[in-house]
Amino acid sequence: MSSPFRRYGLGARWYDVLSGERAVYRAGRVAGIADMHLSDGDVVIDLGCGTGLNFPLLHDAVGASGAVIGIDLSTDMLDVARRRVRRHGWANVRLIAADASRLDASSLGSALGDGGADALITTYALSVMREGASAAFAGATGLLRPGATVCVVDMQPPTGRWRLFSPLARLACALGGADIAARPWRLLEAVAVPGSVRRQELRGGHIVAVTGSLPGSA
Ligand SMILES: C[S@@+](CC[C@H](N)C(=O)[O-])C[C@H]1O[C@@H](n2cnc3c(N)ncnc32)[C@H](O)[C@@H]1O
Repeated sequence: MSSPFRRYGLGARWYDVLSGERAVYRAGRVAGIADMHLSDGDVVIDLGCGTGLNFPLLHDAVGASGAVIGIDLSTDMLDVARRRVRRHGWANVRLIAADASRLDASSLGSALGDGGADALITTYALSVMREGASAAFAGATGLLRPGATVCVVDMQPPTGRWRLFSPLARLACALGGADIAARPWRLLEAVAVPGSVRRQELRGGHIVAVTGSLPGSA
């Protein structure tokens, strides 16, 4: 199996077309971001942002006074994201090349400002990070303010009568280097305030979007 770095290097420029975005995966980002209830002026981190497919929705949600910070390991994916940012003329989207499993406040330089970000989203990325996912999630939540909103959108095998499509879903995940059994939203469920966690399942249960709040300050 090739490393994420190689897979999302050579394939970066075809990612938006070949990743099943329109037919399948866009639904997860739309549902997840809507459920975050972001406000004008919020600062949101997009962990493993790839080519920036979340950016239009995030930018709309936080407005010109907010900010989007996209973090990814692959400079090729970030190049595509950068072109998207330029095309739209977004002055408040920052891109950072970093290994998510080694994040700390210094990784973001001046992008974060005081007090930490208001929100974090990660879509279809933690399942690709595999054994680095826990460290990445811990590092990224460490960049947030108390009470911040977190959303994890990722994949599992389809459920119920949609199990018929499991081989297809497994193939799509294998091609993207994702571990379909990872269920990385459990990282959020483990730290979110009990009662704040909301879960949506889409596309026959293949896509799971979990949103929750971190504990506030004591
Ligand atoms: C399937 S793509 C998802 C991209 C984007 N979030 C989306 O929804 O389209 C997975 C992304 O995770 C990135 N990635 C994998 N391992 C990483 C790591 N350790 N640190 C940062 N990014 C990583 C890859 O470069 C790739 O862009």
